[in-house]
Amino acid sequence: MNRRLCLARRPAGKLSATDLALIDEPVPVPGPGEVLVRNTWLSIDPSIRIRLAATTPDGYLPPLRPGDALTGLALGIVAETRNPDYALGDLVSHTLGYREYAVVGTCAQTIGGYGAPARIDTGGLPPQWFLGPLGSAGLTAYVGLVEILELTAADTVWVSSAAGAVGALAAQLAALRGATVLGSAGSPEKVAYLRDELGIAAFDYHAPALAESLADLAPTGIDAYFDNVGGDHLTAALDALRPAGRIALCGAVSGYDGSTPPGPPNLFTMVAKGLRMRGFRAGSFTRLQERMRDEIADHLAAGRLVHRESVFDGIEQAATALTAMLAGATTGKTLCRLA
Ligand SMILES: NC(=O)c1ccc[n+]([C@@H]2O[C@H](COP(=O)([O-])OP(=O)(O)OC[C@H]3O[C@@H](n4cnc5c(N)ncnc54)[C@H](OP(=O)(O)O)[C@@H]3O)[C@@H](O)[C@H]2O)c1
Repeated sequence: MNRRLCLARRPAGKLSATDLALIDEPVPVPGPGEVLVRNTWLSIDPSIRIRLAATTPDGYLPPLRPGDALTGLALGIVAETRNPDYALGDLVSHTLGYREYAVVGTCAQTIGGYGAPARIDTGGLPPQWFLGPLGSAGLTAYVGLVEILELTAADTVWVSSAAGAVGALAAQLAALRGATVLGSAGSPEKVAYLRDELGIAAFDYHAPALAESLADLAPTGIDAYFDNVGGDHLTAALDALRPAGRIALCGAVSGYDGSTPPGPPNLFTMVAKGLRMRGFRAGSFTRLQERMRDEIADHLAAGRLVHRESVFDGIEQAATALTAMLAGATTGKTLCRLA
């Protein structure tokens, strides 16, 4: 049998693990040109929470309906093949996570342009890195810094949710490029991790007020803001940015899990200070994937980049992994490992 995680009912407020249910079904059978993949690693990403609401933002993926299986980036082993390009035992990345077995097709199934089925040659590296620093998280951090912020060594940059998958990579890559980096996170333990293990200045966004913490660490302001959070963080960044500062809108996690934080009331500072703000999705920049992998793999091999994972075992833990990550109870890349 195949177990897959489905939306049982729309969450009212914060997602509870009981809003999701594991459904048993027969292992699916691949058709011509398809392969059956036994999933081994599931990527747990906050953005799936957006699709559990009744409506999604214009331009985004459609909402899931109760009974639908969750989707997400995943890695697995080819268990049956009807495609001459894939052999039994190949490691494949794809977008049909949150289930034990998936039939992966020949057509490009992606999440916002990212994650088209591909065979992965790990080159001896841990396979799950291709869901983290060498996968979507790595590409997102790289694109946000290099393409969107056009970061230079002269910049002071603030990265929010800096102890998370994308944020920890963005903060460290920025520091490796010579920038002055501030990171924010939601607990003293995460702040200690950022300071002591990643070597970047950090603060807890809960207290004191964001503006005060930013002024302490960057008394003359910041040049760039890598936004993973939105809401009050974006408001504080607009105030802290120096003239001609830049913002990369990567995500807005403070608004995903059952609350809608008000938009920044100080948008006119964009006009007053000549700021530039640009949203992006990593899936529009897959042309940079190889360059990103070369750079990040090099840093990892040389020990210049710290990578932490929060791993949950078994498909029965996937719902808990998702709620824990949204609640800030995980650090680094959140993953679910299937036996
Ligand atoms: N644009 C793209 O292509 C792209 C691709 C991947 C991810 N993203 C975005 O990047 C961001 C980070 O994703 P990720 O996968 O690396 O997740 P993550 O940072 O590993 O996990 C999410 C974290 O968000 C923080 N958080 C939750 N509620 C918050 C709130 N109200 N205020 C401040 N922080 C809050 C929690 O950390 P604390 O303990 O610090 O609160 C939590 O651990 C998300 O916004 C995601 O949607 C964008």
